[in-house]
This record gives sequence, C-alpha cells and structure tokens, in this order.
Amino acid sequence: MIILKGNKTIEIDRNTLSSYIDKYTNVVIDLGTGDGKYVLKNAQSNKNTLYIGIDPSEKQLKVSSRDIQRKKINNAILAVGSIESLPPELKNTADKIVINLPWGTLLESISKPIDGKINKIIELMKVGAVLEIIFGYSSFLEKNETRRLGLNDMSLEYINNILIPRYKSLGLNINRCEEFNNNENSINTTWMKKLLYLRNKHNIRERNIYYLSFSKNN
Ligand SMILES: C[S@@+](CC[C@H](N)C(=O)[O-])C[C@H]1O[C@@H](n2cnc3c(N)ncnc32)[C@H](O)[C@@H]1O
Repeated sequence: MIILKGNKTIEIDRNTLSSYIDKYTNVVIDLGTGDGKYVLKNAQSNKNTLYIGIDPSEKQLKVSSRDIQRKKINNAILAVGSIESLPPELKNTADKIVINLPWGTLLESISKPIDGKINKIIELMKVGAVLEIIFGYSSFLEKNETRRLGLNDMSLEYINNILIPRYKSLGLNINRCEEFNNNENSINTTWMKKLLYLRNKHNIRERNIYYLSFSKNN
C-alpha cells in the first residue's frame, strides 16, 4: 500500500500495516478523502482509532500529510488509491467506512444500482462494520458530470426504492437515511463546508444532501 509521509510516498507491506492496526481498537477508512482533513481532525480527537484516508490525488493528500507528520499524529494514515484499486491489505479491517461527498467514478460506483464495485468496498468491512455515505451532487447544478457518468437524480424516493434494496441485496442493512438541513455541521470536511456555505449564501434549494448509514450483517 502506497502511503504519504509528509511530502514523500512510501510503500508499506501487510505486516507493517497490521502492526499499526493492532495498536488501535477501531479502524475507520475515509474513501475519497480529498485533502484528508476528516482524517487529520478525527485522529486528533479519537486517539484509540486508526484513521486511514484514501484518495487517487496525491497532491490533495499532501495538504494534510504534512500536518500529520509535523504534529506527529500516529493514528492517521493517508494512502494513494481509488475504488478501482483499493489496497488489498485493507480487506476485512474496517470497523467503519465513510464516503463523504463522492465524485467521479467513486460517485458513479456507489450511486448506480448496478455497479459491481460496491462489493470492493464491502470486502474491506468486518462483520458488523458501518458504512456511512453522504451524497451531495445535484443533477440540476452538475449537468455535465451527471450526463458523463449517466447518474440518476438523487432523491429520497430513489434512495429508498432503488439504492437501499440494492445495498440490502449485497448484505448491508440500512440504519439511517435522512436529508441534511442547512445547519448540519457535524460532518467536518472541506467539501461539506464549501457546499453548506454556498447553499446558505445563495439560498440554493436545488442541492440536497443525503446521509445514509448501513451495517454489514454477515
Ligand atoms: C468532492 S471531493 C470530497 C472530498 C472529501 N471527502 C471532502 O468531503 O472534503 C470528491 C473526492 O473523490 C475523489 N475521487 C474521485 N474519484 C475517485 C475514485 N474513483 N476513487 C476514490 N476517490 C475518488 C476525488 O479525488 C475527490 O477527492
């Protein structure tokens, strides 16, 4: 698995990763972490949990990897990867996976009911582990990306009638499904801040933000 140490990338093997994991009571994976701020902040306040952020953009990951190194935060790892190339060492390690405001083929893979790549995410989860997803795209505001990826309109109806049954068929039970309001600030990521700021400033009603939580039942 390729991880960042400050400005550099290094490769760690399965044994080295296991030696990190063994020191902590929980493992949380943030897939599509972007600049890694979610990992950085949460690792500082939950010292018993190992946070692993994964993103294809090394440049984005460097934003927080420098801070992680400077502040000597041992329970935070940023790794280069994508839903198409998830580190195999992470199979069956996660107590929780979060996917905040996905974009590109990550969004395509988890928002279309037919894509087999969701299984790749589920493989990383232990039995009983939780998968939290926050969708924030708008087919009205992001017409090009919606067309390019062939995305469906996101709505509670689509989630309840299409997505939840699909995830259920893959062994995930739904825990919670709700629409976020404008005051929601519990999900502290760079893109969540941006979207909520713009939504409040311009009073944009076309962008709905949905929170979904599942757990793996076998
Ligand atoms: C809108 S940003 C959200 C970043 C971060 N989660 C946040 O909330 O600030 C979407 C992220 O998805 C990542 N992404 C795009 N395609 C991906 C893929 N195939 N696998 C994993 N991540 C991907 C992008 O690199 C980007 O960092």
